[in-house]
Formats: sequence, C-alpha cells, structure tokens
Amino acid sequence: MKMQTENKIRQLKEQKNAIILAHYYTPSEIQEVADYVGDSFYLAKIAKSSTADVIVFCGVAFMGESAKILNPKKKVLMPDITADCPMARMVKDGKIEEMRAKYDDLAVVCYINSTAELKCKSDVCVTSSNAVKIVKNLPNKDIFFIPDKNLGRYVAEQVPEKNIILNDGYCPIHVKLSVEELLETKKLHPNALVLSHPECEDNILSLSDYIGSTAEIIDFAKKSNNEEFIICTEDGVKFKLEEDSPNKKFYFTKTSPCCVDMKLNTLEKLLKVLQTEEDEIKISEEMIKKATLPLDKMLELAK
Ligand code: 13P
Ligand code: SF4
Repeated sequence: MKMQTENKIRQLKEQKNAIILAHYYTPSEIQEVADYVGDSFYLAKIAKSSTADVIVFCGVAFMGESAKILNPKKKVLMPDITADCPMARMVKDGKIEEMRAKYDDLAVVCYINSTAELKCKSDVCVTSSNAVKIVKNLPNKDIFFIPDKNLGRYVAEQVPEKNIILNDGYCPIHVKLSVEELLETKKLHPNALVLSHPECEDNILSLSDYIGSTAEIIDFAKKSNNEEFIICTEDGVKFKLEEDSPNKKFYFTKTSPCCVDMKLNTLEKLLKVLQTEEDEIKISEEMIKKATLPLDKMLELAK
C-alpha cells in the first residue's frame, strides 16, 4: 500500500513538474519521498531558486508562505494547509509600532517562524542557522527580535555588542523539554554529547555541548568522533541522524518532543494534494511585495 502511494506521488510529481520540499520534523515517510529535505533556511533557498511549476511544501504554514513570497509565480501546495506553527503569531498587536516609536534606529528582526503579516512589518528575516551572523552584521545597535524569546536570548548572548530587545513568543514544543528529564538521560548515557536547538530554554542550552539549527545538529553529529548523542529538538530529526550515521546512537528525553503540526503531513495527504491541487497557499500581491523585502534581505545578508 505504502509503495503504491509513493509510486503515484512520483508519477504525479513528474506529470505536473512538481517538487516536494520537506522539513526534518515531518514523518519519515514524507522525508523518504521528498526531493529536498532540510532546515528552514535551506528549504527557503531551494524554493526561491526552483524552476518547477509546482512546489509542494511539507512543513507548517510559515514555510509554505515563505516559499510563495520568495517565488510568487509558482503554485505552492501543502499536504495539510492547517499545519501551523503556534509561535508564528506570538507578537502582541501594536508592539512593533510601539518599539519603533521608542527607538530611533531600530531594526525589527523577524524569525522566519512568523506570519506573513509580521514579516511585512519587519526589516529582515532570520532562521536559526543564520540569525547570529545577520544580527552581527546589521548597522543598527537596537534590535527588536520577534517572535521567539529563546532564539532572541541566544543571539543576544552571541552578539553582546547589540541591544537586543526580546519579545514574549516561544515554541511550545521546545520549551516543554525538562531539565530533570535531560539530567536523567545524561545519567543513563554519560558519554553522550547534548545537541540542542536554540528554541530551547536557557536551562537546557546551558547543559548543551552544541547549539544549532536542525541541519547544523545533524551535520555536527555526522562529523563528530563521538558515538552517542542526546538530541534536544523535535524527534523528526532522528530519521536523518540515523540515516547519516547508522552506527551512532541518538537518545531523546523521556517525553520525546513532537510537533503535532509537522506530523499532520502524511503520505495520503501528499498524494491527495498532488491530485486535487486544493490546499494552495494564497497571499495577496500587496503582502507579497512587502514580505519579500525582509526575506530577500535575509538571503543577501546570509551569503
Ligand atoms: P530549523 O530552521 O532549525 O529547521 O527550525 C525550524 C523550526 O521550526 C524549529 O522548531
Ligand atoms: Fe513551530 Fe515549534 Fe513546531 Fe517548530 S517545533 S514548527 S517552532 S511549533
């Protein structure tokens, strides 16, 4: 049954000149059939440069929206258009305007995990793999970092010369990681290195040996001489970690972090959207025009 569905997906993909992009947090059956699997930054770059007619984005809404904004002539489909990142809208109405009024030379730095509306009001977008580099290179001293307070705090620690003002947003999945469970896992596997995503709270990051985006965590584990790792991010990364390093061991805390929205992507829904082309990302021209500026600036500054 699974093979039949995969074959139908491949046939339709060819017929429609479509490509499938998938984030590392999607289920392994999706990652297996995708043309490109990666972190948010990599997938944004692929979407921007794609010459396909149709981009099927297996991820959450802000990822599909960013693909559409970066390459607006393409039809961007999602297997489940309701897959959303709860952090994406965690900025209070009027907060950006309030900060702009307070600081003369403010840069609003917007994590790509945000709605298109928030991007329209921002100066530059960042992802977890390029945020430090981009913030460091901005001419502005005052930075309002939205929506994620944890990535913002991590960037502030790496770039102490800037005045980084934090917002109150967070990833509900990463903040649930418990220090007690991490310490228990460390006790069980004393030789394991702890690799964490910067969306985790400070108490997890301070116990970590390496902090990076999903792609950076996977790359670190692959290149490391160590054989065991405790992974503090969503459990979908396990598929690529084990594929790249079949002889290494990867552990998660007892309550393994799972993003329910990412898991809404299934093979059946992927096939269905290729057949019906129903779940399409639609963004007004006006919004595309505004939101493209911070996204393009990110691609430029991250070079
Ligand atoms: P990455 O950019 O590291 O892939 O992270 C995306 C994300 O949603 C993390 O929760
Ligand atoms: Fe959003 Fe967190 Fe899911 Fe990433 S893991 S998509 S930040 S809810």
